[in-house]
Amino acid sequence: MIKTISAEETYIIRQFVLREGVDLPFKFDGDFNEETIHLGAFKNEKLVGIASLMKTESNLLSFKNQYQLRGMATINEVRGLGFGSKIIDEVILQLKTMNIECVWCNAREIALDFYIKKGFEIIGNPFTVNQIGKHFVMYKKIPN
Ligand SMILES: CC(C)(COP(=O)(O)OP(=O)(O)OC[C@H]1O[C@@H](n2cnc3c(N)ncnc32)[C@H](O)[C@@H]1OP(=O)(O)O)[C@@H](O)C(=O)NCCC(=O)NCCS
Repeated sequence: MIKTISAEETYIIRQFVLREGVDLPFKFDGDFNEETIHLGAFKNEKLVGIASLMKTESNLLSFKNQYQLRGMATINEVRGLGFGSKIIDEVILQLKTMNIECVWCNAREIALDFYIKKGFEIIGNPFTVNQIGKHFVMYKKIPN
């Protein structure tokens, strides 16, 4: 089940999954903005996956209403079980009801195929994030 959660609830998975061995903040600018949405995937009432949506524009994209997907992660124990996929489906559904035209993210190279399977495309050139590695800007147009 996918539910809206608080910024604070995302922190534990951000720390353990996205910041393991990485000395970068797990609290993001924009976490508490009014437009920001945090989603959690639950398995037997345990939080197993997270994603945050922020109203940020990419200058690589010309869509008027854009949201950025950030902090997308599932815990090790549930990898490959479809929780990540369900989170993206909910992201698309929520943004559709908000009349948002496009969702984009800075995708780690290891997650590239996951996003491609969910209909995202690469735009622009890859870039490197210190301590994490190669990233690609990826986006998906929200169907009407
Ligand atoms: C990327 C991530 C969120 C995917 O979550 P998940 O719960 O494992 O994804 P799902 O089980 O819903 O997988 C959906 C599909 O993508 C595939 N997939 C998932 N992760 C993949 C990966 N890293 N590389 C290639 N394919 C992947 C699955 O095999 C599945 O394919 P299928 O539909 O053909 O069966 C998860 O692996 C993760 O948290 N990784 C570490 C953190 C990270 O890199 N986050 C992304 C930051 S940009």
